[in-house]
Amino acid sequence: MAQFTKQLKKIAVYTSGGDAPGMNAALRAVVRTARGHQLEVLGILQGYIGMLEDIVKPLSVRDMANIIQRGGTILKTGRCPEFQKAEFRAKAVETLKKHEIDALVCIGGDGSFRGALSLWKEHQIPITGVPGTIDNDIFGTDLTVGFDTAVNTALFAIDKIRDTADSHDRVFIVEVMGRNSGFIATYAGLAGGAEEIFTSDGNTTVDKAVDRIREAQKNGKRSSIIITSEGQKPGRAYDLAESLRKKSGLDAKVAILGHQQRGGAPTATDRILASRMGAMAVDGLMNGVCNVMIGIEKGSLVQVPFDVATGTEKKNDPELISLSYRLAK
Ligand code: ADP
Ligand code: F6P
Repeated sequence: MAQFTKQLKKIAVYTSGGDAPGMNAALRAVVRTARGHQLEVLGILQGYIGMLEDIVKPLSVRDMANIIQRGGTILKTGRCPEFQKAEFRAKAVETLKKHEIDALVCIGGDGSFRGALSLWKEHQIPITGVPGTIDNDIFGTDLTVGFDTAVNTALFAIDKIRDTADSHDRVFIVEVMGRNSGFIATYAGLAGGAEEIFTSDGNTTVDKAVDRIREAQKNGKRSSIIITSEGQKPGRAYDLAESLRKKSGLDAKVAILGHQQRGGAPTATDRILASRMGAMAVDGLMNGVCNVMIGIEKGSLVQVPFDVATGTEKKNDPELISLSYRLAK
């Protein structure tokens, strides 16, 4: 954690990386908390793109009306590969200086926090972060804003797929998002009663999946759901289906859930998390705290230095996968 002494008058907030349900709720909390502290608030549009291209607008308390329930981000977001280069970050700092921005709140994933960390190290811009990503792949927080909604969206689809799988006695492979992490697969798998869960860390194999399905069939089970994370080792869902067919003759249908997992109204859990984290991100700045992400551990908010959050791998919970296997009989 770092400290700064500057008296704050004006802060800016931006959303960055993949959008996540609850980003708007976090934004609302940031703006309204900051206005409560008499701070002026600017919104930077499209994440680091807006910081580079000077796309900035004032945000009022009223601008935050009716957004707590909306998915996506009203500030827009973006991926901005140039921001990984110091010369572009220096250009972004010119935008911040031009608008006399004293500090920033970044709502985004670990990539966004890497950018924030560099802004602090290179230019001493005070920043706090709210972890907003459906992937839940950020170290130092039990939950990221958007994860709970994404899991529920995936589950909604899995439940429907189970109906048709059951009617036809079929095997389904359902591919969920999560880039290189398996949290959505694990949680949606356990909650959806999956027979097999492939995550990106090579936790299982096609042979093991076949064994588990055959075992379940011996017990009279005639349909199966395999959940796979998009980044898992043997390949994407269609590769997995092909491999399953070659090894066992099992014919699996494939459903790729894709970007629907990123949209939709945030769950109560995500709205509450976003509200708490957004408020603390501003309160932290008011107390001179910066270069930290606001996380949640065992129900309490914590401040996690950006270098710890971005430099440490968050491990999936293998016990949840084992439990899924034990229960899907
Ligand atoms: P997320 O924030 O959801 O992880 P990305 O990984 O796409 O999404 O990161 C969002 C943005 O953060 C990138 O488009 C880029 O502008 C910036 N960023 C990512 N990695 C770095 C890095 N190592 N250094 C500086 N900026 C970065
Ligand atoms: O980080 C969120 C996420 O949805 C990942 O799960 C996924 O791999 C990636 O973003 C997709 O990114 P894009 O929408 O840019 O294709």
